[in-house]
Amino acid sequence: MTFEKHILCIGAGYVGGPTMAMIACRCPRYRVTVVDVNREKIDQWNSDELPIYEPGLDEIVRAVRGKNLFFSTDIPKAIEENDIIFVSVNTPTKNYGVGAGMAADLQFWEKTAREILKYSKSPKIVIEKSTLPVKTALAMERILNSNHHGIAFDVLSNPEFLAEGTAVRDLTSPDRVLIGSEETERGLRARDILVEIYANWVPRERILTSNIWSSELSKLVSNAFLAQRISSINAISALCEKTDADITEVSRAVGTDSRIGPKFLNSSVGFGGSCFKKDILNLVYLCRHYGLNEVADYWEGVLKINDYQQDRFVLTMIDAMFNTLSGKKICVWGFAFKADTGDTRESPAIRITKRLVEENALVIVSDPKALKNARADLCGLEDRVSFVEDPMEAVKGCHALCVLTEWDLYRHQDFEAVYASMAKPSFLFDGRNILDHGKCFRIGFNVYPIGKPPMTHFQ
Ligand code: NAD
Ligand code: UGA
Repeated sequence: MTFEKHILCIGAGYVGGPTMAMIACRCPRYRVTVVDVNREKIDQWNSDELPIYEPGLDEIVRAVRGKNLFFSTDIPKAIEENDIIFVSVNTPTKNYGVGAGMAADLQFWEKTAREILKYSKSPKIVIEKSTLPVKTALAMERILNSNHHGIAFDVLSNPEFLAEGTAVRDLTSPDRVLIGSEETERGLRARDILVEIYANWVPRERILTSNIWSSELSKLVSNAFLAQRISSINAISALCEKTDADITEVSRAVGTDSRIGPKFLNSSVGFGGSCFKKDILNLVYLCRHYGLNEVADYWEGVLKINDYQQDRFVLTMIDAMFNTLSGKKICVWGFAFKADTGDTRESPAIRITKRLVEENALVIVSDPKALKNARADLCGLEDRVSFVEDPMEAVKGCHALCVLTEWDLYRHQDFEAVYASMAKPSFLFDGRNILDHGKCFRIGFNVYPIGKPPMTHFQ
């Protein structure tokens, strides 16, 4: 079969895998290849057990893999054969040299640009899918156009807005697809080719086009705004706990204003995930680079509140449990940074578990999908931390139970049985406000939600 377009994605991670599976699924006339330097990951993409857990993804991959979706480690061949190349490599926070702890580490991205340059024998459209600092496309263009073979490269920005756990839904029906290009005749022609790909399933009015710098910056700003809402509501949760107001009621009252809207106003132990923190740090770094220190301070506040919320959670535990956790068994339900994913990157559970261990507590971690990652995150603490998948088994004999991920399965446990199996007095710290607090209190728990008055049996 001859395909209409040959599309490549470099980087087979949380973004590259699902986005390319969606393109292959919606565009049977295109041939889509995904490559990665990580052979194990590619083997997993080619197996029955995909490297990431995403509801609905297995079905899509199974339907198109081997037909018009291919996973490979042969990067040179893939670059040579394809003319539309998405780059979806990781862009973590730099942990060395200038900008350490703040700036984006662009080494993987730059290596990819150089590989594209090295193996290209024909013109290519290169699409930034990774989240990058504004103005990165300029560097990409300078590297690519340093070739002496007269090969033309067009660089587009097409940031990804999917969230983990809902990737398939987000890709099927995105709020918007954003495509930034140079506003030259060539740039606009390349942009139209990408618009045409998405228009196979995304309504035209949801495909936004812009200049390339607006597109790069909009991605950072979208994540910053989302994280800011969580830090805003979490900051107010601290005030609720001091004033007997209830954060759920405040959130509803505020979110009902149609100008504000109800989403992303769930108070929690704080946001995690691979991107919010890294992208805000990146934004802060950019602002400081341009001498905008007040703007940088403003966004840095979002991260400070997020750390504060996690530390506050542990301080509440210590305070409630008679000022000592030493030798006490504490069960953690949920280690993933959010429900419906096995991803634990920047999960609040990491910081909280480590703080509990510092207090000499014995921590039992339970999670339906994230225990493999949890073991890696807590490597070296095995004498203080154990891992038990079954939540009922995990909580047995514990002095306290903390809910750190909003997995649906935790709502439906038998709390009479949980209570009966725990040491007394039993403490329940609901870091996601997902449980029926009144019911748990009536069963006998001392209940500490986020942003609501605690319910205790102590006089
Ligand atoms: P990831 O770590 O899951 O995947 C990146 C992949 O790139 C890895 O498998 C790595 O081996 C591969 N890679 C690195 N260098 C390579 C090279 N030179 N050649 C081939 N492969 C290479 O990362 P991710 O979560 O998919 O994120 C990718 C980008 O997308 C980041 O910039 C991130 O900020 C952004 N993003 C992520 C999400 C998300 O939900 N995870 C959502 C939107 C945007
Ligand atoms: C986020 C954005 O939602 C995506 O649009 C973006 O593409 C992605 O980052 C990215 O660039 O990587 P993700 O991190 O996968 O997606 O998950 P979210 O649903 O945004 O949740 C992030 C964190 O915020 C989680 O820890 C979640 O539990 C927490 N959260 C979310 C709250 O504490 N309260 C809320 O009301 C919502």
